[in-house]
Amino acid sequence: MEVIIRPDEAAATDLVARLIVARIEAKPDCVLGLATGRTMERLYARLVQRIGEHDLSLRRCRTFNLDEYIGLPATDTNSYHQFMRHHLFDHVDLNPENTHVPDGVAADHAVEAERFEQAIKNAGGIDLQLLGIGTAGHIGFNEPLSALTSRTRVKTLTPATIAQNADAFGGDPERVPKRALTMGVGTILEAREIILLATGVSKADIVAEAVEGPLRSMITASALQLHPNCKVVLDEDGAKGLSGRDYYDFVFANEPEWRSYRE
Ligand code: GLP
Repeated sequence: MEVIIRPDEAAATDLVARLIVARIEAKPDCVLGLATGRTMERLYARLVQRIGEHDLSLRRCRTFNLDEYIGLPATDTNSYHQFMRHHLFDHVDLNPENTHVPDGVAADHAVEAERFEQAIKNAGGIDLQLLGIGTAGHIGFNEPLSALTSRTRVKTLTPATIAQNADAFGGDPERVPKRALTMGVGTILEAREIILLATGVSKADIVAEAVEGPLRSMITASALQLHPNCKVVLDEDGAKGLSGRDYYDFVFANEPEWRSYRE
């Protein structure tokens, strides 16, 4: 794992947008794993700008989203289907047929989960998986005690997650669906590269636990310690809880890979 700390939210977000652009330039038919949440809203806004500046086509890319609320059809304004259209899909030239978000109203959730896993396999696996982190330490909707080998399935959300996501539902936690269909931790770990973006002081404690704490299913983001090619990109506030900070900065200052990203 590498931890990259930038001075502020805009710089951290921009660094991730640049990394994504570089991956698409290197492999125009790459398979991207996408996430949702406010952190990702800012990232997609910056990414759309960068894609425009680079005149980059995503026509051959394929995308797979981490999760969707159970019971929300793709047309529901609070569905992650709509989130993705609004923040990314409507602003780039992705072929809608190449974008995949789990179906939250499938007749049989187990069948839908299996179909989604198979679609990822058929695409050749995910090249780059983007992640945020919930305050409960989840990646996707892998709430506490999700098996670190779990696959796409239905998970019941924690009250903390429901409260965190209530804003999008008019601030009313009662309106937030209680369950979601989510890629499993095992599914996520099969991506060839993972980038987690977390900013703001509200994420500082959970980031420190996930990055430097013990590996445990109570905090599924800690499973990223098992991944051989994972980057955690933070702003100063998000990095406040880390104890190994000096070394992470040293790596960023000295690794040739980061040369063009340092200024
Ligand atoms: C939701 C998503 C997660 C995301 C989290 C963080 O719970 N299912 O994938 O990481 O939100 O959200 P935010 O960026 O709004 O803090």
